[in-house]
Amino acid sequence: MSSAHSTPKTGDRVLSGMRPTGALHLGHYHGALRNWVRLQEQLECFYFVADWHALTTHYESREVIESNVWEMVIDWLAAGIDPARATVFLQSRLPEHAELFTLLAMGTPLGWLERVPTYKDQQEKLSDKDLSTYGFLGYPLLQAADILIYRAAWVPVGEDQVPHVELTREVARRFNHLYGREPGFEEKATDAARRLGGKAAKRYAELRTRWQQQGDAQALAEARALVDAGASLSAADRDRLAGWLEGGQRTVLVEPQALLTEASRLPGMDGQKMSKSYGNAIAMREAPESVTKKIRTMPTDPARVRRTDPGEPTRCPVFQLHHVYSDKATQDWAAAGCRSAGIGCLECKQPVIDAVLAEQAPFHERAQPYLDAPRLLRDIVDAGCDRARAVAQETMREVRDAVGLSYR
Ligand code: TRP
Ligand code: SF4
Repeated sequence: MSSAHSTPKTGDRVLSGMRPTGALHLGHYHGALRNWVRLQEQLECFYFVADWHALTTHYESREVIESNVWEMVIDWLAAGIDPARATVFLQSRLPEHAELFTLLAMGTPLGWLERVPTYKDQQEKLSDKDLSTYGFLGYPLLQAADILIYRAAWVPVGEDQVPHVELTREVARRFNHLYGREPGFEEKATDAARRLGGKAAKRYAELRTRWQQQGDAQALAEARALVDAGASLSAADRDRLAGWLEGGQRTVLVEPQALLTEASRLPGMDGQKMSKSYGNAIAMREAPESVTKKIRTMPTDPARVRRTDPGEPTRCPVFQLHHVYSDKATQDWAAAGCRSAGIGCLECKQPVIDAVLAEQAPFHERAQPYLDAPRLLRDIVDAGCDRARAVAQETMREVRDAVGLSYR
């Protein structure tokens, strides 16, 4: 059941990842990282670099991955990710992810992966690459393994990733259905029902059918009461009979929910979505002179050819930046001054420049220690990998056991 209305509660586990694309820009900050920082205050957060995922599309360019990884982790810390609160780690240091991926792959129908919208979309978009590979098809299943191995309740992602979280839920459900039963469960449950005694056993069977076939909640409640009252039952039998009412499966893997980040849609310098590949981005840690120059040369409403020509802010990408960076009063000042030609475009841009530089100052400050001593960064990631591994190994012990692989 998708519980779209529930919200995270203290102690819930959060997991998210990013492919290492190198230095992040302000769109990444406003679209994702700012939210990650906020979440770490109340929830148990795991954030990782999805370096294997980068290889699904860039398997030929191994030389770029390494520097992209460290640049990106510095940006996370620059944004305010606190390694004392959040666990920061690298996917490729945890072969457990690959092990779970392999086991999930056994029972995942091909069609589930072929139908994921990003599969065909990306193949078309990145048509210069050959993406008819096994690894690329498996991309969302690897993502499912990333999420399920931490039993994460919440996955903060953008809209485009929601189908991947949905697939993850289906995969978890299927896994629990296939493997979440103790061997011989049906027989053991049938025996336990018999031990309820003649009339009660018959009644239990009727109520179970009514609940399972008609969803009659009354029947479920009565059946549970019957089990509780079964004085002659062992605790294990009682558990089996209670479990049998629900279909008899154990939750080995937890179904996660997407935690949608409101699209911040920070526009780039040309008014399109900010993106490295459009060449319209400002890096999180870009030098102030460069930021100033980029904004000063940003295109504005084409109607404002001369300083005396009035303009229309809704046709101007600078005004979109005011929406993100300026308070109401400044926005009103810009809009009125634009329409009356009371201010010039450079004047209008100055508060935006100031606000962006003010936002970036702490990024530079927080990043500096890691630029000075890269060892610090490595230590944070090493410690994060250790913490992640402890959780991943615990899940894998249960998974192997459920699949029937714990023989010695
Ligand atoms: N596919 C995600 C993206 O492109 C990255 C990712 C990989 C991820 N594994 C994940 C995100 C697990 C959340 C959870 O942004
Ligand atoms: Fe854009 Fe401001 Fe110039 Fe109007 S005054 S066109 S909003 S930069």
